Amino acid sequence: MIRKWATITGAGSGIGEEAAVELFDMGYSLILIGHGADKLMAVRDCLAKRKARREKKSGPFDQKIALIAKDLSDPSGRAEAWEDIKGIIDKEGGLPAILINSAGFGAVGNFRAIPYDLQENMVDLNVEAVMFFTYRMADLMEKNGGGRILNVASSAGLFPGGPYMSVYYATKAFVVSFTNGIREELEESGSPVKVSALCPGPVNTPFNKRAGVRTPLHGISAKRCVRAAIRGMKRQQAIILPGLSIKLAAAGAKLLPAGIMLPLTAHQQKKKLRNGKQ
Ligand SMILES: NC(=O)c1ccc[n+]([C@@H]2O[C@H](COP(=O)([O-])OP(=O)(O)OC[C@H]3O[C@@H](n4cnc5c(N)ncnc54)[C@H](OP(=O)(O)O)[C@@H]3O)[C@@H](O)[C@H]2O)c1
Repeated sequence: MIRKWATITGAGSGIGEEAAVELFDMGYSLILIGHGADKLMAVRDCLAKRKARREKKSGPFDQKIALIAKDLSDPSGRAEAWEDIKGIIDKEGGLPAILINSAGFGAVGNFRAIPYDLQENMVDLNVEAVMFFTYRMADLMEKNGGGRILNVASSAGLFPGGPYMSVYYATKAFVVSFTNGIREELEESGSPVKVSALCPGPVNTPFNKRAGVRTPLHGISAKRCVRAAIRGMKRQQAIILPGLSIKLAAAGAKLLPAGIMLPLTAHQQKKKLRNGKQ
């Protein structure tokens, strides 16, 4: 059987980690990319245990897991990661079947109160890294007969703006627009590469802690989010909205004028900054 690779950025935790579990259980070999080597190794150990349990029931199955620990907000980290990805697929053989661009982070607060460097770093990761890997992987996939790319955006990317999380919302609006644009280009050229944007609302992952959220909004589990994402990819949906409430919020964002949406969004974001205990 031909090996199929799923390459996942941000695979050390949250949505990326859960995508690794689901795709591994579906038989994909994995290239897991993240910041921290320790987190990636923990994910690999957990997957190896799942494989051992599975093999006890159904016999041996040839699946590989490769780890790449790099800072993807850094141009040299991205370039090194790409060389590693190509090297792994060349050496082990198989097809670059799936790319999930999940690495990303946010920061809550007033734009002028959040350190500039942090927000610049966010653009480097949430925007540049998505462009970088999509550009290269689409080519590699096309040469190998096709593949699927999932760019993890956010429902934030469907709103006219995100006061008190302005840069984060803007990065995710980029991801949505970029994905829609290249999707059309790929379709018009008859490419076998398919691309989708995942736009979840709140998901229960370490994201909020890192973003400085004191009172998180009620979220769905990463498993539910990833299962919806995989279903959406199979159906070749352009924008994948996991859960009814986020479908309704997205419809509202389309219908309501920015003058109404922006203060509503500001109100929601400010809630995240309040200390729930007070
Ligand atoms: N959770 C939500 O509510 C939510 C909602 C909508 C969209 N999203 C999007 O979903 C994606 C995944 O987030 P998540 O919820 O799964 O949060 P998460 O658990 O914090 O995952 C983010 C991952 O990105 C990695 N990462 C961060 N900076 C990196 C860098 N410079 N280089 C390489 N990897 C880096 C992190 O690795 P380290 O931990 O090692 O730094 C982490 O594994 C993000 O793009 C986020 O914007 C999340």
